[in-house]
Amino acid sequence: DNEKSANVVWHQASVSHEERMGLNGHKPAVLWFTGLSGSGKSTMANAVDRLLHQLACHTYVLDGDNVRHGLNGDLSFSDRDRVENIRRIGEVSKLFVDAGMLVLTAFISPFRADRELVRSLNQATQFIEVFIDTPLDVCEQRDPKGLYKKARNGEIKQFTGIDSAYEVPVSPELRVETAGKSIESCAQLVVDYLLEQGIIS
Ligand code: PPS
Repeated sequence: DNEKSANVVWHQASVSHEERMGLNGHKPAVLWFTGLSGSGKSTMANAVDRLLHQLACHTYVLDGDNVRHGLNGDLSFSDRDRVENIRRIGEVSKLFVDAGMLVLTAFISPFRADRELVRSLNQATQFIEVFIDTPLDVCEQRDPKGLYKKARNGEIKQFTGIDSAYEVPVSPELRVETAGKSIESCAQLVVDYLLEQGIIS
């Protein structure tokens, strides 16, 4: 534990995790989407969110571009700040799971050790790593925000896949190849997995 919280005593909630879950017709979990910029993480997370919402699941999407404006507005794209970015999102996700929800996170989360850290914060059945496996050349061709172009011109430094590392997941629960596929069919794969695992019904 952080020594700064050494004299802080944990306060027991009066409504238990089980009681919160009982109100939902599904189990809580983190769907941790990881992949290069432009791979389709946000698109996929939002498409899955829509399908789950239609199935009456309690969901919420945490997205890099949005969270970096607020909660993590003080963080850059240095290795050190990316680590802190993911650590905070891991902790926030854990709170959502405790609240009984299905939380979908869309962060590049380029480092394996950080993804393992956020995995370790949750029970094994509650953490689903979804690798959005879109090759760099496809992401660069899509370049929805023109960021790859800027990175190639040297206008953006430490850009993932160009001059900052992306460590490919070794054994994610799910690997989704988006190139040449429809958003709907990719999103359905994720929902099917949740059905198979009995997280939703
Ligand atoms: S990380 O690595 O997990 O901390 O990144 P994340 O919080 O997901 O933020 C990624 C989005 O920030 C924009 N952006 C950059 N990405 C990568 N490298 C650099 N240097 C950078 N600068 C800005 C970019 O729009 C990413 O959005 P996505 O949705 O991933 O394309």
